[in-house]
Amino acid sequence: MKKKQKRGVYKKVKNTSFVIREQTGLNYCVDQQVQQHHLNSEYFVTHHKLIIGNCMSMEEIQNESVHLMVTSPPYFNAPFDYKCVFKDYGQYLGVMSKVAKEIFRVLQSGRIAVLNIDDMLINGEKFPIVADATRIFLKAGFRYRDRIIWKKPEGYLRISRRSGVMLQNPYPMYFYPDNLLESIIIFQKGKFDYRSIPKETRETSKIDLKEFQDKKWFMTLWDMVNVLPGATLEKDIATFPEELPYRAIKLFSYKGETVLDPFAGSGTTMKVARDLGRNSIGIELKEKLISIIKKKLGFEGQMQLHNSSDTFNVVIRKEKYAHIG
Ligand SMILES: C[S@@+](CC[C@H](N)C(=O)[O-])C[C@H]1O[C@@H](n2cnc3c(N)ncnc32)[C@H](O)[C@@H]1O
Repeated sequence: MKKKQKRGVYKKVKNTSFVIREQTGLNYCVDQQVQQHHLNSEYFVTHHKLIIGNCMSMEEIQNESVHLMVTSPPYFNAPFDYKCVFKDYGQYLGVMSKVAKEIFRVLQSGRIAVLNIDDMLINGEKFPIVADATRIFLKAGFRYRDRIIWKKPEGYLRISRRSGVMLQNPYPMYFYPDNLLESIIIFQKGKFDYRSIPKETRETSKIDLKEFQDKKWFMTLWDMVNVLPGATLEKDIATFPEELPYRAIKLFSYKGETVLDPFAGSGTTMKVARDLGRNSIGIELKEKLISIIKKKLGFEGQMQLHNSSDTFNVVIRKEKYAHIG
């Protein structure tokens, strides 16, 4: 189903609680167009939809319409990034439970959810976020498929050197190691039917084995450089490097499919999805990130001759959520 609309028109959508405020090109019903493959052209026309709202509800997204979920949620009340956002750890886990249930609902059967997350040390207490998120995703119905450790280069610490406490107090009991690791936990909704993918689609999405071997994707330890604070488009956003969604999207989706990031941030997952010929849906609480996301995806005046038919829609929910939880 296609709907034609004028550019830049504020249009109320029947029977929904949101407005489409901004768009380029045609406005497709993302949920139905995701099935469309453009197998005959080398370049895939892709469609990107940003929903401004709380991802505890994904009301705009139909059941089983997403092929892959890649995200990095807040790490509870992480100092520097999310200080005091949640009332307590219980509230945080409640939010994660609702989000996990929605991800399960919108994902197609057999498909994958990739969660970049880690335990968080707050005021000397470590919160077991990885273990709790794993339990939450299992409870939502997922199978636990794998865990990858992301190792950042030494000297690339994003914000704090916790080991500095020991330098100031070289005595027992002052030890807090600098954290160079994060987790990437991978869940699956049931089993994947490999025969459901047409041969042509498989071939257009073939993985480059040289890249796979050279960059050691085959191991449970991924060496990836993190984004440093102060980067132009990622200022004040706990961004992950493009390499993370790049690997996930290549390994777990086919061209022309749809990738969801419910904690979109600066739009890294959506950007990489576009680069790789996949559609994307992002959900983000902060309205002020719209222009950053638009820029990152290349829709803010950038000329991309080869993919000028791609579309970008923003949906701003009418209900404003005062609180995250
Ligand atoms: C860790 S950042 C994601 C960064 C992203 N991976 C990137 O590369 O830019 C988490 C984002 O989730 C957003 N967020 C937090 N809670 C949310 C919620 N309940 N619904 C939607 N977005 C939320 C925050 O505003 C923040 O931008």
